[in-house]
Amino acid sequence: MNEHRRPLIAANWKMHLLRREASDYCRRLREKVGGGDGPEVAIFPSPVLLPAVAEALAGSTIAWGGQDVHAEPRGAHTGDVSAEQLADVGCTWALCGHSERRRDHGESDALVGRKAQAARAGGLLPLICVGETAEERKAGKTFEVLSTQVAAALASKPQPFALAYEPVWAIGTGETATPELAQEAHRHLRSQAAELLGEDVAQGLRILYGGSVKPGNAAGLIVQEDIDGFLVGGASLDVDSFSGIIGSSGPGT
Ligand code: PGA
Repeated sequence: MNEHRRPLIAANWKMHLLRREASDYCRRLREKVGGGDGPEVAIFPSPVLLPAVAEALAGSTIAWGGQDVHAEPRGAHTGDVSAEQLADVGCTWALCGHSERRRDHGESDALVGRKAQAARAGGLLPLICVGETAEERKAGKTFEVLSTQVAAALASKPQPFALAYEPVWAIGTGETATPELAQEAHRHLRSQAAELLGEDVAQGLRILYGGSVKPGNAAGLIVQEDIDGFLVGGASLDVDSFSGIIGSSGPGT
């Protein structure tokens, strides 16, 4: 965390929760999240939950976004959701290139770049996810993989945007990257962003860490210079544990 970048703590609910649970969660979360100087907070629900989330969070400081966005603005794309549709239910953000999308739907680096561009064109902030697999890390290819993913994702210069470093081996496994290892990857990503978009953009860019973040490990990660928040999966499904992570991530922690 750097004092010039406000932390962003995001909940990725994946394919969990029903409308009633989502509404109750949001009502409880807005009682706990103050805004002010604290971290910025965003929720990424499944698309069918977005209207319920929008209703429960209306007028709060908490933002919401889509877990995915189509690369085209509209058209014959059964089962997909456009940036304009997300914006229409009040989304501020769109996740692009989550590793589960890359794995389950074969999303390529180039497609992720087009999605980030579509999100920006539709008035959304892309939160672009990158990260290496266990095999790539073992083969010493982590930086190479991250550089390739970032270059493709930023080819359209989708500013503003945020990045999430999510090592695939740490997602949903309980195996969190150590603060030092995460910091090393985040520093690399920031230097890549500087090469591609200039030092000013890179210094203002928020790079979130994701992968088995919990209330017990958030504080050790957020103190790293280049870690500017979290994208939280499993631990975000419980409002107390998600707000515990938010509480560990404020300025002055
Ligand atoms: P996790 O998921 O916190 O359950 O590891 C993170 C993510 O996939 O964004």
